Amino acid sequence: MTIDVTPVSGSLGGLVSGVDLCDLDDARFGAVEEALWRLQVLVFRDQYLAIDDHLALGRRFGPLHTHPAVAGVEGHPEVLRLRNLGKEKTITQVWHSDVSCEREPPSISILRAVEVPPAGGDTLWANQYAALERLSPGLRAILAPLRALHRGFGLEATHPVLRTHPETGRQALYVNGGFTYAFEGMTERESRPLLDYLVGLGSSLDLTMRHTWAPGDVVMWDNRCVMHYAIHDYDDAPREMHRVTVCGEAPV
Ligand code: SIN
Repeated sequence: MTIDVTPVSGSLGGLVSGVDLCDLDDARFGAVEEALWRLQVLVFRDQYLAIDDHLALGRRFGPLHTHPAVAGVEGHPEVLRLRNLGKEKTITQVWHSDVSCEREPPSISILRAVEVPPAGGDTLWANQYAALERLSPGLRAILAPLRALHRGFGLEATHPVLRTHPETGRQALYVNGGFTYAFEGMTERESRPLLDYLVGLGSSLDLTMRHTWAPGDVVMWDNRCVMHYAIHDYDDAPREMHRVTVCGEAPV
């Protein structure tokens, strides 16, 4: 089974057409998974998922994750509601991998546009396989044995800096600006310059894709090999997104 997928940038991401996310037989779902492992981020237009459809789609990938700190929509703790609370309170305007402060961080995130601002509110994703490939052999050898500390929402975990993807077997850079704060065995001050360098490199514009949201859009991404960043450039305009996140494994 093949599905129609058009690349959306030179580095990662694909726009999938001709697929109804509420009506995916096993063959089509397999093709979606294959495209996700290959392209890391998939965009679907005109889906208008109900909450139950969104949950059912997430469960095709595995058990659903419940956010450790942010309440879900009423009656559905696995559906995270991300509303505009004003720029000062935005927690997603930073390059991050979802909830990497957990020992077993989520694998797949599926975000659905519920209400979009009249302009702005785009999301960016960055390819962390390609970020790793961009490092010199010397720096890669230094990073290979290192683990990094991630904290947030009152949680803390250590993960390898180079993470092997369980589906593709490829290695990706796995540090981010939202949660990673030090390398194991080093102070925060010692760690900061290299962490800043790695997150900066990992978010180089030519490693990114950008999505401008419209009602009905659904975007799914693989937190094990991308970082993402939600741009808050819409003042107090309403923006509401619902996110369903799939439980992941301890990074190796
Ligand atoms: C997220 O960081 O998971 C949400 C991204 C967005 O609101 O665009």
